[in-house]
Amino acid sequence: MNILETEISQIKLKNPLMLAAGILGTTASSMKMVVNNGAGAIVTKSFTQEASSGYKNPTVVKIEGGVINSVGLSNPGVEAEYEELLKLENTRKDAPLIASIYGNSEDVFIKTAQKVEDIVDAFELNVSCPHAKNGCGANIGENSKLTYDIVSSVKENVNKPVIVKLTPNVTDITEIACSAQDAGADALTLINSVGPGLRIDIKTGRPILNNKFGGLAGPMIKPIALRCVYQVYENTSIPIIGVGGIRNYKDALEFIYAGASALQIGTSIMYNGPEIFNQINQDLIDFLKNEGYNNIKELIGKAHKF
Ligand code: SIN
Repeated sequence: MNILETEISQIKLKNPLMLAAGILGTTASSMKMVVNNGAGAIVTKSFTQEASSGYKNPTVVKIEGGVINSVGLSNPGVEAEYEELLKLENTRKDAPLIASIYGNSEDVFIKTAQKVEDIVDAFELNVSCPHAKNGCGANIGENSKLTYDIVSSVKENVNKPVIVKLTPNVTDITEIACSAQDAGADALTLINSVGPGLRIDIKTGRPILNNKFGGLAGPMIKPIALRCVYQVYENTSIPIIGVGGIRNYKDALEFIYAGASALQIGTSIMYNGPEIFNQINQDLIDFLKNEGYNNIKELIGKAHKF
């Protein structure tokens, strides 16, 4: 067995590093480029039935500790995204393709999922964008009943694994995670961005994002993401994908020790380029060999022994 091989439900991964939703995940060419740089799976940028231009720029701004973003779920709509995903048939043999979808009703989620079901390997339901409008994003994922209803209706209507991406911006993330699991979720992605937050330009006094408020991502949220993975691992039995500020193999190991079976990389690509996938994979291989492990799965949940 390959030393980095892992799995999420029925999805086999040659290594645990997945492209996170939102970065380089709209066109087939950028997704292929990320796979060529070592990603073990690809999550698309979130899309839905209708195209959306999102919020006006500036939408993503680097700040100390990471980024603040309020992109507004911009996407070309499912019909156009379908044409892009069709081009990834060969890439999928190397790296499973996971469609991140969003909507504001069961009907929208189901129709969007069914349109692409035959050309993707799994779904990631985005019920967690902290600055979404019109009943999308965290409007769903902050509520355990709404989360249950969306997840169970998608599960009833598609035959591919369903992963649910949760927001940390709730009183008790384990309650929402348990609802998603009870509704039939095959896995959980933890976490979407933290906030929303606000930053203001000191010369003009103007909020730096056009939408004013935006989600925080990058290294500054890593301890919160780790805490969420740790708590949810103790309270659920489905696989967890950890995401939030992973920059190197040491960050990756912390998430695996907390209970993650796979990991997603997003903001760090903006700082270090897509080469980060091959770099972290190689460093993980070296670490595992030096420490005498046969496979990365031996490390999942290690922190819970203490
Ligand atoms: C965005 O498009 O604004 C970000 C999406 C998300 O946070 O889920």
